Amino acid sequence: MRPPTAPDGRTAAIPAGMGARVRRLTTRLNQYIATGRRNPVWFAMFIFGRFTLARRLAWGIRSPSRRRSRTDHPTIFPAVDVEAAVRDLRVDGIHPGLMLPRTTLAEILRFAEARRCYANSDPNRAIRVNRGGDVHFDGPPPLIADYHGQVFDCPAIRQLATDGTLTRIATAYLRSEPQLTRCRLWWSFVAPDSPAELRNTFSQDAFHFDIDDWACLKYFFYLVDVDDGAGPHRVIRGSHRNRRLRHQFTIFKGQSLASLTKVYPARDFLTITGPAGFGFAEDPFAFHTGTVATVRPRLMLEVEYGVSQLPVAGRYGSPQG
Ligand SMILES: [Fe+2]
Repeated sequence: MRPPTAPDGRTAAIPAGMGARVRRLTTRLNQYIATGRRNPVWFAMFIFGRFTLARRLAWGIRSPSRRRSRTDHPTIFPAVDVEAAVRDLRVDGIHPGLMLPRTTLAEILRFAEARRCYANSDPNRAIRVNRGGDVHFDGPPPLIADYHGQVFDCPAIRQLATDGTLTRIATAYLRSEPQLTRCRLWWSFVAPDSPAELRNTFSQDAFHFDIDDWACLKYFFYLVDVDDGAGPHRVIRGSHRNRRLRHQFTIFKGQSLASLTKVYPARDFLTITGPAGFGFAEDPFAFHTGTVATVRPRLMLEVEYGVSQLPVAGRYGSPQG
């Protein structure tokens, strides 16, 4: 049986008997080296982008000449208060006030049902999933199934990626013309017994921060109802700006729950639930994680913007292909 691969194609099978952290590092190293070879500037961002001071400097130096308003694009979110959303993002790192129109939701659900997705992101394990999340597997059920680059075949997703409100929020928050970095569409299945290594690989019950650019903004949309049993997203409010040195001087993006609960109060650990179509914006430098679905599967869409045109540390989901 082939080893599973992560959303960005990295191999998840690793030798047994090593510490979990060492195994994670081994798993991801090849991907990072490959991306750094393509663009050494990415390496600099990846190394220094974990330090808040370096991020502010790089972000601040870049922004004045690149600031540009994107008010010309039409929007499917006419009621959203852009300034309030940006305020929430600056303070909390999250703004939970988005809702897809029913027609957009229906179009994405039709697309997801019609296309194959890839079990545990393995391109050799194509499967079909109906809109209820039902699927039959040969062998152990996967933790997730990802549609890879097919997302850009869906007109509703392409429209979302250039939506006037989403890009206006991104422009104001990033203080720069937003660069579409990546789109992802994926199922998370009920898999309470999944191995910890697989959960780490697919960022479930594994708090971490993202370093995809000097500054990033992500939009997440739930495409099915998501309650506590459907693998809700979790985020630590304010952790994008409030960062202890121990969480900056680390080679690991993932941090243990024990280490985070020592720093952040329980009230800042938010669990995001909502009906089908519900969406939120998030600064992914804040600590966040998916959670393992325990009762019903979850279908999620992610649209990510950065501030540069650095390569994506992964092999699909990028508009560059
Ligand atoms: Fe993440």
